Amino acid sequence: MSGAQRLNWVSRPATALRGDVVVPGDKSVSHRSMMLSGIAEGTSYIRGFLEGEDTRATAAVLAQLGVAIEAPSAGERIVHGVGLHGLRASNQPLDCGNAGTGMRLLAGLLAGQAFDSTLIGDESLSKRPMRRVTDPLAKMGAQIDTQDGLPPLQVRGGRKLHGIRYELPVASAQVKSALLLAGLYAESSTEVIEPHPTRDYTERMLQAFGWPIEFSPGYAKLEGGHRLRATDIVVPADFSSSAFFLVAASILPGSTLRLPAVGLNPRRTGLLEALRLMGADISIENQSKSGGEAVGDLIVRHAPLHGIELPEALVPDMIDEFPALFVAAAVAKGRTVIRGAAELRVKESDRIATMAAGLRALGVRIEETPDGAIIDGGIINGGTVDSHGDHRIAMSFAVAGLVARDAITIGDCANVATSFPGFLELANSCGFSLG
Ligand code: S3P
Repeated sequence: MSGAQRLNWVSRPATALRGDVVVPGDKSVSHRSMMLSGIAEGTSYIRGFLEGEDTRATAAVLAQLGVAIEAPSAGERIVHGVGLHGLRASNQPLDCGNAGTGMRLLAGLLAGQAFDSTLIGDESLSKRPMRRVTDPLAKMGAQIDTQDGLPPLQVRGGRKLHGIRYELPVASAQVKSALLLAGLYAESSTEVIEPHPTRDYTERMLQAFGWPIEFSPGYAKLEGGHRLRATDIVVPADFSSSAFFLVAASILPGSTLRLPAVGLNPRRTGLLEALRLMGADISIENQSKSGGEAVGDLIVRHAPLHGIELPEALVPDMIDEFPALFVAAAVAKGRTVIRGAAELRVKESDRIATMAAGLRALGVRIEETPDGAIIDGGIINGGTVDSHGDHRIAMSFAVAGLVARDAITIGDCANVATSFPGFLELANSCGFSLG
């Protein structure tokens, strides 16, 4: 997880992608399923849990805090919840690995406990901004010490929390969720208002666990003093993991892929709209609801793409999909302009800088701007790029290799296992040439 092992991949040009691609469970839903079932009363069954390093780190933290968790088979968890006040102190730091979601949500959850905790992370997570959660949590009465705004986080227990009304300065589901989790332990109501609606999994899942909550796009309100009752959770396939295959099949002539039962929460599917605006051929079949979430099979066929001015309103709904979009834009005919996406600079890497450096090394014309990029599509050459230990950058350049003139060597790919265990095998099974 710390990137101690430097794993490089080579992605070679391929002919066409074909077949069914079953991607692993949703990362956001998996993190939340573990946290809420851990503090619920009773036993919850989770199916489709993401066996990634990020979500396993969250499960390990809950176990360290005294929650008994069984893993009868891959993707299955039986969580024996300890109730809202049943967590116990750990005398060891709680290691969130590479996961910003894990650390930020746990900061909210732990702020309301009777005991102190220390949250740590790997090299990348240790550079990610935490004041966005610690500042509003402090307004609720929490005390969390940072290292100049960065991890480790020392969360002081035994604080009396009170609800606040908080208008998020930046659209962030992680910050919203941290406040709602702290709000479970607070006196009076906690109200969160977002500048643009973000994924609402925490709200939906709290409701599924029986906690009264009021929410609508961009707004959530709950009050402390209720109970969470164990429930069963089915985690849908992760749209963000599907994104690499949507772009891959779109750009490689002759390709057709089917991605079954993918989570289609509208706050996640901005890339679908962006790719369609670029001319992509993606359809949805077998739409249904699973565990309250929209799911469907995605069918993607190759289609010639053209550049677009990306509507800024789509940015929060595709915040994790930009590395893949950059690759689509590099292949598309004409210019793609991305604005309003400064948040990309504080993800697992500075995703504007890492994608720009990588694409430039492959001969693509790309201009970095403070909050986006201007990409002139054309030919991608072979060459060597560095993922900077960022899972989504590594997978995006694996996709670029499909259509490059020559092989692309991608440095530092071990962290792909944080969100997408088995990516390499799955990619090769549908026609990639990745090793
Ligand atoms: C996530 C929210 C997003 C996203 C991350 C997962 C979540 O982060 O990038 O991968 O599960 O709440 P921000 O809240 O920082 O935008």
